[in-house]
Amino acid sequence: MSERIEIIRGDITRSDADAIANAANTSLLGGGGVDGAIHRAAGPRLLEECRTLHGCETGKAKITRGYNLKAKYVLHTPGPVWHGGGHGEAEKLAGCYRSCLALASEYGCKTVDFPSISTGVYGYPVDKAARVALSAIAGYLAEHPEIERVRMVCFDEGTKRAYEAALAEL
Ligand code: APR
Repeated sequence: MSERIEIIRGDITRSDADAIANAANTSLLGGGGVDGAIHRAAGPRLLEECRTLHGCETGKAKITRGYNLKAKYVLHTPGPVWHGGGHGEAEKLAGCYRSCLALASEYGCKTVDFPSISTGVYGYPVDKAARVALSAIAGYLAEHPEIERVRMVCFDEGTKRAYEAALAEL
């Protein structure tokens, strides 16, 4: 199923996937990084809907409409903050991808784009995160043919290389 996984360089706010994931925080009330970029691109109605969700646990996900984004839905998922790897970070990060994909299936999405969750402000080493992310995505796709394509939308070359290396190891 790795043929259904693509690694691209780009700005996820321009994605035309059915759903894009957002590397959120547990408040779901916006922030910097990709979270800030998605809220800016989607417009103020995104925050209005997020306010009704009353936050989200790390490793879980909640869904909203995409508003001014091309994507129909946004899958908000708080990733783990990196504390050295001994605090269940890998399991929580895998949970982010699985939870987003489960919601995508539930809402009939066929294509899902992800940013590199937790590897910015939250400090998760990108080579480790990439292996966890792609293993979780590949595991989900093996059981869920309804998802036709998952892309990692990497904002910089280093991130793209890390995910390409992890995909090659699958
Ligand atoms: N498109 C795709 N990827 C992006 C974009 C974008 N427009 N902007 C940033 N990124 C990338 C970053 O370069 C990084 O590789 O998203 C990845 C995740 O980085 P962060 O946005 O810092 O997210 P994270 O590390 O999960 O930290 C989440 O930051 O913005 C706050 O509210 C957010 O508190 C939460 C925390």
